[in-house]
Amino acid sequence: MEVKRFRAYRVTEHASGKYVRNIIERKIEDLPDGDVLIKVHYAALNYKDALSFSGNKGVTRKYPHTPGIDGAGIVEESKSPDFKVGDKVLVTSYDLGMNTDGAFSEYIRVPAGWVVPLPSGLSLRESMIIGTAGLTAGIGLYKMEMMGQSPEMGNVVVTGATGGVGSMAVGILAKAGYEVTASTGKSENTAYLKSIGATEVVDREFVNDNSSRPLMRPQWAGAIDTVGGNTLATLVKGCKSEGSVAACGLVSSPILSTTVFPFILNGVHLLGLDSANFPMEKRKAVWNKLANDWKLPNLENLVTDCSLEELDPYIDAMLKGGSKGRVVVGF
Ligand SMILES: NC(=O)c1ccc[n+]([C@@H]2O[C@H](COP(=O)([O-])OP(=O)(O)OC[C@H]3O[C@@H](n4cnc5c(N)ncnc54)[C@H](OP(=O)(O)O)[C@@H]3O)[C@@H](O)[C@H]2O)c1
Repeated sequence: MEVKRFRAYRVTEHASGKYVRNIIERKIEDLPDGDVLIKVHYAALNYKDALSFSGNKGVTRKYPHTPGIDGAGIVEESKSPDFKVGDKVLVTSYDLGMNTDGAFSEYIRVPAGWVVPLPSGLSLRESMIIGTAGLTAGIGLYKMEMMGQSPEMGNVVVTGATGGVGSMAVGILAKAGYEVTASTGKSENTAYLKSIGATEVVDREFVNDNSSRPLMRPQWAGAIDTVGGNTLATLVKGCKSEGSVAACGLVSSPILSTTVFPFILNGVHLLGLDSANFPMEKRKAVWNKLANDWKLPNLENLVTDCSLEELDPYIDAMLKGGSKGRVVVGF
């Protein structure tokens, strides 16, 4: 019987301590066990992938490894009653691309519990423009609104706004009727940020308060933060009464140093976002929003398409904080 072979982007750890990336040929039986074999049509790049590609053991313990936490495609084999051959599906996170071979590969095999049926209203490619970045931003707004956030309360700040999560957060918030203050280190991308929905664009120093004040004059009604560190501390102490600050990232720092005053004097909510393990029923609800009420009219403005062979420079740019929007690999 003919052995099916496919291409995958593999990272190998060399004795020198270097991590080397190569596109190699693999066989289906090389993939981990799982209920659902998916022919990947599109995959998308996230910060976590860039870390996995560069040998970050906090993300990927063992090499050789295939990164890729976001993949969308068509079911080719299924042991699960929930999925049949030909179904259009997407998988984001859980362990995909971390310690399970990921989606920068023509095939993935995963547990059925990780698979989301493609929501109606989205193409496979659109689902990957959104991907983990959009799911995370969507979980942010979903949780903020559960805590009572509304457009009437005022503007919402998005930090790391030109990045994947940042761009999706700007777009989704704008689509949901919020005024969006986009914070960026790349002022040259002001027109881009306005094109995807930002009301105003500020330099990232605007949300980097270095005074020792425990509270600032309230200047925003909420925030979605991808940066962490002092940026997150600033967002909390400058937030208006009863606003929510949703924290998902650490591109600046994982340390959060703050006081309790924003919480006990202003009733500010600090919300954690974990898209990797977000429960399936709520995950499907957020995907449904992303495919309908929160579907961006200007999704194409966010995307750079490339092939597996062209991915390398985007990984390096991401590691240097140079991302803009979403990078989608088509197979
Ligand atoms: N918790 C979750 O479920 C979850 C899910 C997805 C991502 N994340 C995290 O969210 C963060 C962003 O992920 P991503 O995929 O959107 O990455 P990305 O596309 O690389 O975007 C990161 C953006 O952060 C800004 N930035 C970079 N270095 C910075 C620094 N030193 N100080 C301040 N801002 C800086 C840049 O935007 P500007 O130049 O516009 O400022 C950059 O484009 C990462 O920490 C990632 O791990 C978490």
